[in-house]
Amino acid sequence: MKQQLEEIHGAALRALAAAHDEAAVDQVRVAFLGRKGRLTDVVRQLRDVPQADRPALGAYLNEIKDDVDRRVQESLATLRAAARARAIAAQRVDVTLPGTRPARGRLHPVTQTLEHLVDVFVSLGFDVADGPDVEDDYHNFTALNFPPDHPARDMQDTFFVADGHVLRTHTSPVQVRVMERHKPPLRVIAPGATYRHGDSDVTHSPMFHQIEGFMVDRRITFGDLKGVLTLVVQRIFDPSARLRFRASFFPFTEPSAEVDVNCQICNGADATCRVCKGTGWLEILGAGMIDPNVFAAVGYDAEQVSGFAFGMGVERIAMLKYQIGDIRLFFGNDLRFLRQF
Ligand code: PHE
Repeated sequence: MKQQLEEIHGAALRALAAAHDEAAVDQVRVAFLGRKGRLTDVVRQLRDVPQADRPALGAYLNEIKDDVDRRVQESLATLRAAARARAIAAQRVDVTLPGTRPARGRLHPVTQTLEHLVDVFVSLGFDVADGPDVEDDYHNFTALNFPPDHPARDMQDTFFVADGHVLRTHTSPVQVRVMERHKPPLRVIAPGATYRHGDSDVTHSPMFHQIEGFMVDRRITFGDLKGVLTLVVQRIFDPSARLRFRASFFPFTEPSAEVDVNCQICNGADATCRVCKGTGWLEILGAGMIDPNVFAAVGYDAEQVSGFAFGMGVERIAMLKYQIGDIRLFFGNDLRFLRQF
């Protein structure tokens, strides 16, 4: 029996040496030390051994069982340590690899144009004011000398909101809000979104941006208006840019003008130019001398002060500056378009 034990011991050691993963080692443990394992069998056979030989054989058997058990545990520990080391090695960060850069965003071309315009006006001493996009009828129309139910309100395709409110159809209500709170002299611009429903086409979008500007003081003239606008346009486009003033009508200015800039794309040389439609000019703003009725609405004395006001279309200016033929491109969110700016 001693010889049989030696043979089983040898077999166990060889099987362990050949077991290269935890599952294989566990199979060896079951095969030799399990309830039906080979060494467990030998324990049962001890009953048939003569009484005198039993203690010595029993002790030897235990020695072998302990030895196999210890080697199984050692082998499992070694395999687990190796697996852990492999996992750590696989997770190691190689700090010498090039990093992945997050894509860098950029300002929308309309925002870029708007900020450029604001910078130019600020450099001329204008303050920047703000007003609500959802405006009340009084500030959007009444205080600007649109009488109630006057057909002039049809000039603009208004989005009506509940309780006598509208989405502001222009930035001119900010003139009223500023003058209600501040006394002249004033030099203010008010950039922001404006809303008009109606056709959406190459030059019209239901939401667009304006920069309102106005100046109120003693003896402000139409000449001041022309001077400021010419300077700003030449700074935004080119020192050779020219303006054309056409007589027009707005309820809140008198006299009023629509102002065109010479076409920055074809300079009047292309009869088929999509942007100026061959006229050589593009309308970019409305302007005029603030109507005495507007001054009355905000409590100014029109005998003491005068002022000019204008409202320019930011998308129109961006289209001219970047030679864009369709205003809808600004709001299509097409990255191939936006990435060019
Ligand atoms: N509010 C006018 C418009 O949106 C533009 C304008 C502003 C005209 C200020 C005169 C003075 O068309």
